[in-house]
Amino acid sequence: WVMAVTAQTPTNIAVIKYWGKRDESLILPINDSISITLDPAHLCTTTSVAVSPSFTHDRMWLNGKEISLSGGRFQNCLRELRSRANDVEDVEKGVKIAKKDWDNMHVHIVSYNNFPTAAGLASSAAGLACLVFSLAKLMNVKEDHSTLSAIARQGSGSACRSLYGGFVKWIMGKEENGSDSIAVQLADEKHWDDLVIIIAVVSSRQKETSSTSGMRDTVETSALVEHRAKVVVPKRIIQMEEAIKNRDFPAFAALTCADSNQFHAVALDTCPPIFYMNDTSHRQVLFLIISRVEKWNRFEGTPQVAYTFDAGPNAVLISRDRKTAALLLQRLLFYFPPQSETDLNSYVIGDKTI
Ligand code: DP6
Repeated sequence: WVMAVTAQTPTNIAVIKYWGKRDESLILPINDSISITLDPAHLCTTTSVAVSPSFTHDRMWLNGKEISLSGGRFQNCLRELRSRANDVEDVEKGVKIAKKDWDNMHVHIVSYNNFPTAAGLASSAAGLACLVFSLAKLMNVKEDHSTLSAIARQGSGSACRSLYGGFVKWIMGKEENGSDSIAVQLADEKHWDDLVIIIAVVSSRQKETSSTSGMRDTVETSALVEHRAKVVVPKRIIQMEEAIKNRDFPAFAALTCADSNQFHAVALDTCPPIFYMNDTSHRQVLFLIISRVEKWNRFEGTPQVAYTFDAGPNAVLISRDRKTAALLLQRLLFYFPPQSETDLNSYVIGDKTI
């Protein structure tokens, strides 16, 4: 017999970035962060997990290819979940897994991103959050979302924020064991549903520096990162929470763009420097997107669009409403048509790829 559970989890985009850990193995950050969870139609992961007495070891397939599960992060998540597992019964199949038997059961995991992994947007956030959520369902783990967020955090920091929809804050916490480093929902997806997110997907020729090693180097070598984590981000977190609460787009946009810029400044202040926005040879395209966004914003008198870049060259543009998004897309398609010599692959807006 086989028992299985399937779940779907969207990725999230940080508007106040997490960059730097104070504990590498528990994945505890040096500052709070805030993100928007995307609509599942945008970028999401679908994961099925199965358990059977015939499985001899844990295995996982990502987008149809088997991947290794030997890394400590997955094992940490699994250990946390196993310790909270409960009796599970499938009356129809006439099978029961007792709480104490979970230690000897193995799982098979099949995970798909609704987005090409090669685009560099397939997110560990959605993947790990989905894996933890579906395993928790399979194992009848009864703990709430905040405990699951702390478990997902141990798979990948940003994953803890994908357990909730809407606007989410990852509280860095103070405890050494990480028990208070959890995600909380600031506002649900209905609170500010005018916002429209457009992702400009840029083909990446070079392999980017992973977030994990990039932020490790930053913490070890950047002279600016401590100021960011201790002075700048705490202020911005308060201001961002206020902007979200009041649906204050000008404040939201100013903070989002400033924080993205500062994250990339801190990456550049790392030794050796990390060029996330231009290490793939597309920096000119992206700078043009930025300057146009800024020019347009000034032209309209009040900000219409915010931009943010994660650890890669893809621009995430957040427009204040549908009308602005339509105009922005029109301009983007005119100035940076996809598949042109600009190496801009496509635009993703909701469930559409253009
Ligand atoms: C730039 O969560 O991928 O997207 O915790 O080492 O797995 P690990 O890193 P990860 O880092 C994400 C960094 C970021 C900013 C953010 O999402 O807050």
